[in-house]
Amino acid sequence: VIETPRAVRWHDGAVRIIDQTLLPGEFREIDLVTVDEIDEAIRSLRVRGAPAIGVAAALGLVASLATHLALPPQHLCTRLAEHAERLRAARPTAVNLGWAIDRLLARAARAARHAPAASRELWEALRDEALAILEEDRAMCRRIGEHGAGLLRPGATVLTHCNAGALATAGIGTALAPIYVALERGVRVRVLVTETRPLLQGARLTAWELGRAGVEVTVITDGMAAAVMRDPGVDLVLVGADRIAASGDVANKIGTYGLAIAARHHGVPFYVAAPSSTLDLSCATGAEIPIEQRLPDEVRSGLGRLTTPADAAVLNPAFDVTPAALIAGIITERGIVRPQDVGLTSAERS
Ligand code: MRU
Repeated sequence: VIETPRAVRWHDGAVRIIDQTLLPGEFREIDLVTVDEIDEAIRSLRVRGAPAIGVAAALGLVASLATHLALPPQHLCTRLAEHAERLRAARPTAVNLGWAIDRLLARAARAARHAPAASRELWEALRDEALAILEEDRAMCRRIGEHGAGLLRPGATVLTHCNAGALATAGIGTALAPIYVALERGVRVRVLVTETRPLLQGARLTAWELGRAGVEVTVITDGMAAAVMRDPGVDLVLVGADRIAASGDVANKIGTYGLAIAARHHGVPFYVAAPSSTLDLSCATGAEIPIEQRLPDEVRSGLGRLTTPADAAVLNPAFDVTPAALIAGIITERGIVRPQDVGLTSAERS
């Protein structure tokens, strides 16, 4: 079994994360306890990737409440609600964040309804719920890997974008999970990784984690993707998702939509890998998915030095939406489904 980095975990009352802003130059783990620390870490992408931020927020709510156990249970619940709304606003596109927070709020509501629990009992119930979210995410990643590995032939070339690997989840990743499972089965593929401007998650994070696992990786700039799909050829595009609408439209890192168009033009199958916690059936189509707009300076000087005139007008949407029609399949923990069937139960699919 491949050892992958643990992006987020529970450690002695704190949320322990790998500070991803420092990678690949430095590997440093940091412990987060207060709601300010957790909010800052999510906003600044120290912890990032849709499933990982959901897990970090859930564990973060628990860690941040630990110093308030002297409060009566109703007041602890008020504090929980305040912290929850604070973290929910940290990043708007990845639905896993709100999904994980809502699970903790629902757990607190259940505990309060059944027995007027003491604050410590309530806190322990929340801690167990957050740990369950983490364990479920690990299990979903593994299942996604098992379902997706069958798409990979020995020697195939896979193109991926951004980082939907171990660093983006509590487990072995989503889009990278099939690559890890294939490797465990002795199937080696070559991976082309787009740099992923402006924050370089592909170049900094995906190249690092795949390289560490012994996968052959080639980094390309974002602008090269269409050309490499034509020559020397790409067998499959495999990306993650931040939110999937009921229609099967997929929000993912900016640049994903362009890759899907190029893949269609060159006849390359385009797959998305995501756990069910990334589905948002309350969004009928991708047009309803909120797209995070980040600060212009990430584009002007994201590489640490000014790369545009200091006052250049820039756009910086962090995500785009790929229409379902361009997607060959969505790899979920339940299997590979057509995008338009992603919201259906297995009984409803035919
Ligand atoms: O801005 P980021 O780095 O959080 O964006 C991450 C992505 O777009 C990932 O592809 C997505 O969250 C899926 S992660 C399993």
